[in-house]
Amino acid sequence: MNVISQPMVGHTPVMVEEALDALAVQPGGLYVDGTLGGGGHAEAVLEVASPGGLLLGIDADPSALAVARARLARFGDALLLMEGNFRDLASICRAHGFAPVHGVLLDLGLSSLQLSDEARGFSFQTEAPLDMRFGPQQSLTAADIVNTYSEQELAALLWRFGQERHSRAIARRIVRERPLGTTLELARVVQKAVGGGRLRIHPATRTFQALRIVVNAELENLTLALDQARDLLGHGGRLVVISYHSLEDTIVKDFLRREARDCVCPPDTPVCICGHKATLRPLTRGALRPHPAEVAVNPRSRSARLRAAERI
Ligand SMILES: C[S@@+](CC[C@H](N)C(=O)[O-])C[C@H]1O[C@@H](n2cnc3c(N)ncnc32)[C@H](O)[C@@H]1O
Repeated sequence: MNVISQPMVGHTPVMVEEALDALAVQPGGLYVDGTLGGGGHAEAVLEVASPGGLLLGIDADPSALAVARARLARFGDALLLMEGNFRDLASICRAHGFAPVHGVLLDLGLSSLQLSDEARGFSFQTEAPLDMRFGPQQSLTAADIVNTYSEQELAALLWRFGQERHSRAIARRIVRERPLGTTLELARVVQKAVGGGRLRIHPATRTFQALRIVVNAELENLTLALDQARDLLGHGGRLVVISYHSLEDTIVKDFLRREARDCVCPPDTPVCICGHKATLRPLTRGALRPHPAEVAVNPRSRSARLRAAERI
């Protein structure tokens, strides 16, 4: 899961060397970073892609764009920044002439900048309104969910998106104690529902993950973005995705597996009726994991999984 236990001042990009390798960044290339964040990966890409390379950086969060803009100022016109959602990847890229491209990078989830921003409501350790939106363009907040969804709906989403075994008890307690306005109120309610036992992670971790995924339609947006990313790649172009929990990683894995095959008919179909043609060649066998030395200096990287493929 993409959660760290202590706020960090900046955002340290995860698996940078592995991402650069997988993207096969080359001078003069065209790259899209669909999750620009603090611009760490983008900086590494632009350093190798210069001279002549261009990068289009997209983020739903205008404050991330501001941080990245300052960090990447030295690249001048080689950088184009767009506030937007990667669910609209194709239209954003085509509107700016970024197609076909040499590489698309998605480094999913939230950044340390967002987690440590006390106004955003992503952390169960600091008091904040229950917001959790990646960007101001979105309307649904975590407060809307906890205060208006039925007990059954809450239990279902905690189970599905948080893999929370106490989903029903937590949902019951939320409904009993709402309205809830802040992160610490919610964290206390979860703690009461789950009880005091010894847990490896904070009892509210899974609840916060589930709410964040729903608020930001994370799984749906990822599913929509993968097809578009593949279609933006020129022949030999690279798609690289770094995910931080198994729900995201499964979507990426299934997508890459499907796109590596010529036929995706159910196994008992005698003759192919799908007409599907492989579009990608996987570059990673399984998922790459961060080196232990990276995890030691950046604990946030510990859950990262990187998958990559080449357009054929
Ligand atoms: C893990 S951070 C990326 C960090 C970045 N790679 C770096 O090196 O600084 C993920 C970023 O993606 C953004 N994000 C997540 N989902 C998004 C979406 N569907 N559309 C646009 N941006 C999104 C978040 O706002 C966050 O800034």
